[in-house]
Amino acid sequence: MQKSLMGTHSGIVGVGSYLPEKILTNFDLEKIVDTSDEWIRTRTGIEERHIAADDEATSDLSYNAAKEALEMSGIKPEELDMIIVGTVGPDYAFPATAALVAHRLGAKNAVGFDLEAACAAFVTGLTVGDGMIRSGLMKNVLVIGVELLTRISDFTDRNTCVLFGDGAGAAVLAPVAEGEGLLAHFLKSNGAGGEFLIQPGGGTRNPATRETVEKRMHYVHMDGQEVYKNAVRGMVEAAKSVIEQAGYTSNDVDLLVPHQANIRIMEAVRKRLKIPAEKTVINIAKMANTSSATIPICLADAVKEGRLKKGDLVLTTTFGAGFTWGANLIRWSF
Ligand code: UT7
Repeated sequence: MQKSLMGTHSGIVGVGSYLPEKILTNFDLEKIVDTSDEWIRTRTGIEERHIAADDEATSDLSYNAAKEALEMSGIKPEELDMIIVGTVGPDYAFPATAALVAHRLGAKNAVGFDLEAACAAFVTGLTVGDGMIRSGLMKNVLVIGVELLTRISDFTDRNTCVLFGDGAGAAVLAPVAEGEGLLAHFLKSNGAGGEFLIQPGGGTRNPATRETVEKRMHYVHMDGQEVYKNAVRGMVEAAKSVIEQAGYTSNDVDLLVPHQANIRIMEAVRKRLKIPAEKTVINIAKMANTSSATIPICLADAVKEGRLKKGDLVLTTTFGAGFTWGANLIRWSF
């Protein structure tokens, strides 16, 4: 815990990402389920996805992304006050993956906890981290978005297994000058949509039994069209809210970083917000949908590709299971 920093602004001061080495292409999937590269590319924008090695788990992907983000930030692991791991797939039901990541990083002064908000977990983590820094309770916060969705994908169900990939992204939050950093947030949930995107088995409603496994309840189940139409609506609502809260218009946005679930969703969102394609980060072709990891991976890509500079106005927007959706508006600080 630090001395009071009440009123301090927080911003992202380092980003990192990690994608497992193994790649599964659409052509590989053609050999597994009744699908085609053409269907997957035209309906989703996906060409290939990364798959974690058998001996890789959530904390391993998290650690690699976090190390890169910390190196970029210049902040040492022992200077971290909090580590948030946003994921639907922790190493274990408990202990928290964030505690394991903290230990491996040597973040011995940090509290670590996992945050479950599906595809909105990174955006939610940035909001929580910003709140802790602004309130003066914490100074340096590491936020990770990480998923091994291929571990819970049913490779007999072509409706879902072609959509997902594994990966991790991370961001370090720290105090920044006034007017920089996280300017506005939007978060909302509606559990009425819970049934449309769900891993029904393994929790307290349907504890894991031979029967739940035989019924394939430990895999992702999704009503794609229901999620699709709510995603476009939710991402636009969240994005418009943060732009308005901060007193800007979408013309002021330098970079749109949408959750990468489907190229058609991102295009619809971008067009409704009237943001040009060249100001939008799209990496779904090579990474597929990595849920909470898509936005931090895109931010890390944008930095590596020189698409982000100090002072740029960055808009994130996301939608996922819950339903839960949200956005952040960020004045980039490095
Ligand atoms: O990250 C969390 C949020 N997730 C999302 O936002 C995902 C939202 N949903 C989507 O992205 C889209 O709804 C999907 C990509 C999942 C599906 O695209 P769609 O255009 O909504 O297709 P559909 O579900 O309406 O299916 C159209 C046809 C069906 O065949 P019939 O009934 O018209 O004969 C499906 O059986 O495409 C068929 N189909 C496939 N064909 C080849 C479904 N999956 C496949 C497949 N390969 N992999």
